[in-house]
Amino acid sequence: MKTRMIGSQKVSEIGMGCMAFSHGYGAVPDEAYSVEAILRAHDVGCTFFDTAEIYGSQAFFYVGHNEELLGKATESFRKDVVLATKYMPKLEDAEGEGGLYGTIRARAEASMKRLRTDYIDLYYLHRVHKQISVEEVGQVMGRLEKEGLIRGWGLSQVDAVMLARAHAVTPVAAVQNLYNIMERDCEQDVIPYCLDHQIAVVPFSPVASGYLSGKVTVDTEYEKVDDVRNWVPQMSKENVAANQPILDVLGGFADKKGATKAQISIAWMLHKYPNIIPIPGSKNQERILENLGASNIVLTDEEFKALEAALDACEVHGHRGQVQFVG
Ligand SMILES: NC(=O)c1ccc[n+]([C@@H]2O[C@H](COP(=O)([O-])OP(=O)(O)OC[C@H]3O[C@@H](n4cnc5c(N)ncnc54)[C@H](OP(=O)(O)O)[C@@H]3O)[C@@H](O)[C@H]2O)c1
Repeated sequence: MKTRMIGSQKVSEIGMGCMAFSHGYGAVPDEAYSVEAILRAHDVGCTFFDTAEIYGSQAFFYVGHNEELLGKATESFRKDVVLATKYMPKLEDAEGEGGLYGTIRARAEASMKRLRTDYIDLYYLHRVHKQISVEEVGQVMGRLEKEGLIRGWGLSQVDAVMLARAHAVTPVAAVQNLYNIMERDCEQDVIPYCLDHQIAVVPFSPVASGYLSGKVTVDTEYEKVDDVRNWVPQMSKENVAANQPILDVLGGFADKKGATKAQISIAWMLHKYPNIIPIPGSKNQERILENLGASNIVLTDEEFKALEAALDACEVHGHRGQVQFVG
């Protein structure tokens, strides 16, 4: 697969979001299936895997389930892949032994143990805490980089002002924000800032929680337990119906390119910005391969312009709704 850079680290231009193997989209597959899914993704060239300490198993009720799964799957080719995980801050983190540095270091070490590795390629601040400044976290991340525990750091769900504050303390390698055809806030400030400062943008929910695949319909029943689509406004029955013109546009281009709607959605963002590295997530092996296959769908400049114009003519109904701060 073609590659892009996160700081000095080369990654496949499409990564793999592993969250749903542990939580967020209903019942989770069994471990063997999930591990096999990661191996199959790696077999087709995926070298960038995304997890977080808080992606815990609903069924077993513990944090770190997702990191354990990813560690188990990637152990035999660890050096060939880039593993990204995330630290979620809590108010008491600055009060523990060793202060904020001691806490973050201990949490990173716990993640590393679960990931079966002695370094983290990309360590994100999962959310900015209202009472812990990004400058303080940036200082800790800089220290962890110097110590060789992490190879780069990033932030998630931040605006350009917050990003600039963090970047001034320790250069940021990547920003992981919500971004897809229907959620374009990042285009205003965050992506331009990242382009100017050689920061990678890692869109989460790149196929809008599955909507842009066209496989969600007004008749789709989301799972009852732990399925974010129950509260995502964009996924309400009214908005699923109202956003149909967007799917019609994608469908037209998909037919022309011999691709799927999900692939066109991913190819669209890859064409639009050179620093974008999406991480679609799925619990289904075939869909994972479908999403990674978007790397083979190359839009010409003319096709991109036509697609963009057609999308611009569509109104977007509803949004995903994301927590920006914790604390
Ligand atoms: N930083 C953050 O705050 C944050 C927040 C959310 C997620 N993330 C990360 O970003 C990753 C991706 O986010 P996401 O899972 O919300 O993204 P997504 O890929 O936009 O949405 C996942 C949903 O879309 C469906 N889907 C994906 N590809 C499909 C396809 N080709 N055809 C039909 N349905 C498809 C999946 O269903 P099936 O499983 O049934 O295929 C699942 O319900 C996560 O795994 C996680 O690592 C980060």
